[in-house]
Amino acid sequence: MQTITYKPCDLVIYGAMGDLSRRKLLISLYRLEKANLIEPDTKIIGVDRVAQDSAAYIDIAYKSLQEFLNEEIDSSVWKTLSARLSYLQIDLAQLDQYKKLHDILDPASRVLVNYFAVAPFLFKSICHGLDQSGVLNKESRMVMEKPIGHDLQSSKEINDVVAEVFSEDQVFRIDHYLGKETVLNLLALRFANSIFTSNWDHNTIDHVQITVGEEVGIEGRWEYFDKTGQLRDMLQNHLLQILTFVAMDPPVDLEAQNIHREKIKVLEALRPITIDNVEEKTVRGQYSTGVIKGSAVPGYLDEEGANKDSTTESFVALRVDIDNWRWADVPFYLRTGKRMAGKRTEIVIYFKQLPHNIFKDSFNVLPPNKLIIHLQPNEGIDFVMLNKIPGIDEHIKLHKTKLDLSFDETFRKSSLFGGYEKLVLEAMRGNPTLFISREEIEQAWTWIDSIQDAWKHVDATPKPYPAGTWGPTEADELLARDGRAWEEPCYK
Ligand code: BG6
Repeated sequence: MQTITYKPCDLVIYGAMGDLSRRKLLISLYRLEKANLIEPDTKIIGVDRVAQDSAAYIDIAYKSLQEFLNEEIDSSVWKTLSARLSYLQIDLAQLDQYKKLHDILDPASRVLVNYFAVAPFLFKSICHGLDQSGVLNKESRMVMEKPIGHDLQSSKEINDVVAEVFSEDQVFRIDHYLGKETVLNLLALRFANSIFTSNWDHNTIDHVQITVGEEVGIEGRWEYFDKTGQLRDMLQNHLLQILTFVAMDPPVDLEAQNIHREKIKVLEALRPITIDNVEEKTVRGQYSTGVIKGSAVPGYLDEEGANKDSTTESFVALRVDIDNWRWADVPFYLRTGKRMAGKRTEIVIYFKQLPHNIFKDSFNVLPPNKLIIHLQPNEGIDFVMLNKIPGIDEHIKLHKTKLDLSFDETFRKSSLFGGYEKLVLEAMRGNPTLFISREEIEQAWTWIDSIQDAWKHVDATPKPYPAGTWGPTEADELLARDGRAWEEPCYK
């Protein structure tokens, strides 16, 4: 069992009745409780404007677990968790109401962790309400997550509002992909294994592919998604974050600021996609009707609340070039889409072809070695290599084989923690390593804004693709032009 070394917290969730709190945070807190990872004196306070008492909130919390937990609720875990829960009614837009926090928080003996599970337009009043109420001190933290703006300008505005009250080291910006075990394992894979440390650049790597395929559509979120699109919803954050972990130089140690610094250097080196190259480097797609898991599903334009003329992309594929020494001439191909053939997140590192082939009996062209890193649904790593087929044949015959490291089997952990558990815990521990700095977010937006802007100046009408496929054929052509093809997602 792990020992708890962090100070007790008052974890205050603003927007306690909202979707994020009910679907994700409560589930994470339950799992952390089950693993005995919540400090015993920690309290969890739900804040929202709904008039109700703590008993009613605890009841709602229980119902949320029943609905979203996907496992039977353990009564002793629930007993401990529910004893920590309480509720406070505050109209989040009314600054004077934050005074009520004074009576229930104890910032002198518990660290105040403020989780902003609300839309950014409320951030200003929460920050100022907290400031005026006098409950904040240097140890207090604030946690927020995307969308942190929809472009550079709006993200700066949000960060500025928060910075009026919290210093940068008090701000924990979540990208839930950074809580996923395999993303973190990239640090270990790359910087603890000499075979990879010394073979991780343009000398040995041909190109990299990152695929984040989702089976879900827009899940009734037309209003949000149609204004956002897949580039902003998924690529600006999750895929670029994965890319930085794959591409960064070794940090001097695991301190947050040193990891952040290396990630920023990668973001700064991304070659801009502009009006001059946007058509060659990007593909936008939009799903039409199709079949997912054997059932017919509507197309994007038939979703509930749809505007039939929408040209928002539900799929995007890009060729990304990183202009630095390590990655010269090594393209990164990124693709992500809703309603794809499977829920698969994979990174594939393609190593370079050997200069000469002495096994022509088996392969005219030797297939390259590949390192396939699976993020979800099953975490693990495969290394694809060539081996001799055993036997006494006259000629040596080769066969492609896989060294297969499945986290489930290797570490005998059937349920590794999800991203949120890890990040909520790290926020309570006060460890900023897995959170995103302001500079990273702004650098990522600068690069994404240039693509969004370029799309306005060319014919970027999204190409249709049937739901249940891996995107429009134009995405295949993006790689075919470079003599390459997407890796068929690997079903483990
Ligand atoms: C969210 C996006 O950030 O990530 C959603 O807003 C998306 O549109 C979700 O479906 C995917 O997360 P995961 O962990 O299920 O891959």
